[in-house]
Amino acid sequence: MSLTSCKQIIPLMLPILAKVVFGTSQRMTNRTNIGEWTDIRLPDALHPVHYIIKLQPFLDGRNDSFHGQLEVELEVAKPTSRIILNLADITIKNNTVKVSTLNKRRRLNPIRQQKYDPIREMFMVQLRRRLRQGKAYLLSMQFYGKLSDTSQGLYITSYKDYNGTERKVVATQFWPADARRAFPCFDEPSMKATFDIHLARERHMTAISNMPLITTTPVPGQQGWVWDHFATTVNMSTYLVAFVISEYKFRDQEGQGKGRLKVWTREDKLDQTELALEVGAFALSFYEDYFNIPYPLRKMDMVGLPETTFLAMENWGLVTYRESGLLSDTETSSASHRNLVSELVAHELAHQWFGNLVTFKWWNDLWLNEGFATYMATVAIDKKEPEWGILDKFVVSRLQSVMALDALKSSHPISGPLENPADIDEVFDEIPYSKGASVIRMMRHFLTEDTFKKGLSSYLSSM
Ligand SMILES: *[C@@H]1O[C@H](CO)[C@@H](O)[C@H](O)[C@H]1NC(C)=O
Ligand SMILES: *[C@@H]1O[C@H](CO)[C@@H](O)[C@H](O)[C@H]1NC(C)=O
Ligand SMILES: *[C@@H]1O[C@H](CO)[C@@H](O)[C@H](O)[C@H]1NC(C)=O
Ligand SMILES: *[C@@H]1O[C@H](CO)[C@@H](O)[C@H](O)[C@H]1NC(C)=O
Ligand SMILES: *[C@@H]1O[C@H](CO)[C@@H](O)[C@H](O)[C@H]1NC(C)=O
Ligand SMILES: [Zn+2]
Repeated sequence: MSLTSCKQIIPLMLPILAKVVFGTSQRMTNRTNIGEWTDIRLPDALHPVHYIIKLQPFLDGRNDSFHGQLEVELEVAKPTSRIILNLADITIKNNTVKVSTLNKRRRLNPIRQQKYDPIREMFMVQLRRRLRQGKAYLLSMQFYGKLSDTSQGLYITSYKDYNGTERKVVATQFWPADARRAFPCFDEPSMKATFDIHLARERHMTAISNMPLITTTPVPGQQGWVWDHFATTVNMSTYLVAFVISEYKFRDQEGQGKGRLKVWTREDKLDQTELALEVGAFALSFYEDYFNIPYPLRKMDMVGLPETTFLAMENWGLVTYRESGLLSDTETSSASHRNLVSELVAHELAHQWFGNLVTFKWWNDLWLNEGFATYMATVAIDKKEPEWGILDKFVVSRLQSVMALDALKSSHPISGPLENPADIDEVFDEIPYSKGASVIRMMRHFLTEDTFKKGLSSYLSSM
């Protein structure tokens, strides 16, 4: 098992595994019927275009909950009189669900019925009048929920600062299908939309999200609280939405990279961010040059969290890492740890193109993300640290090691059928990473480097 895979499951996170496995078997045995919609996938009648999400997480120790408000603009691809979207573990406030036209008059479309299917994590709104093809509508609602303590969805974690005081952190982990635990959404990778994120925080904390902060305003009627308003995102999948609210501090690299890269961590570990900054700045410019496509956002934040489900997660513009995968002590870190941090940072930043800019339609093609990110990370690090011989070691560390797994009867193709994102564990092993990367490496060799580069550039820019 290679530690450099970005979304490796921590073996000790048994509660989550148990939840996923249990969830899977339940899903097989009973399917509730939501307005005659029995598929695990969302219908294709509606496309989300733009979300406005306002969230206020409460961290007062007594009550780790959050309140939220959602407005989502919908485009009608096929006439329909129902809206089905994903939702899990959150409660919609009674009488706050509204559907209206998206013109000046905002004519309300009365709601006949609301239904929730906890098994398929779907919420349905049945309307009195049909939504007309080609027209735009607005769906809005208010909701609340509990902050999770399992490092999935919208979660809370904590650490002890240098003088022993407990500090809380609110963070997100939405891959593969947990954005629905923070706000109701069309939680499928191909249902891309833009997002306006607004986060309420206490004044002594800092909020960061995918996009840069625009303004901060007081929360009316709540002393000590402010709203942070973030810039509208690019068109993106729900699993890449992210934010972190903490008392973290950051370091950035002056001059180089025009200050777009920051590494955030607890104050007492700030001096361990040097390597991540160096590799991050190198990798961003290296990929821009190699793919011939500029990194499309104005900033990149990388954050080291005390607790995460995966070693790292490539959220667009806000990559989250487990502290041990991001931080490294210049004096005491081993060569292999420096190698791990370098490859991991290069892997997550490669995803900003492979996965974030160009995304698979469905989870069965996960290898397109992981194979390319794994392979491109070795190419980037080989350029930065040629004496490490990382491309030479590839044959042993990736190709031959994954053959052992691929030789088992339980192996699976790099791209195979996958109906339910909850079953993703069955295909989420070293195969999409290392076999994917090995196949891509083979392509680079028989195509030759120049043709390979041209092909990648045209693949990435055809989207
Ligand atoms: C689904 O099946 C399980 C076990 O068979 C049962 O306990 C549960 O109540 C069922 N859920 C629904 C919503 O029917
Ligand atoms: C949690 O706190 C918020 C804000 O004070 C409050 O609105 C909400 O009702 C509380 N929830 C619970 C379950 O106590
Ligand atoms: C909200 O609606 C549900 C279902 O109709 C009902 O059981 C519940 O009591 C309502 N809650 C409030 C606070 O009105
Ligand atoms: C610990 O840090 C907090 C906040 O910076 C400060 O208020 C407190 O006095 C410190 N305690 C000690 C023992 O230094
Ligand atoms: C956003 O992405 C979706 C899905 O790929 C696409 O249908 C839509 O046209 C895109 N919107 C914009 C503004 O590019
Ligand atoms: Zn990855």
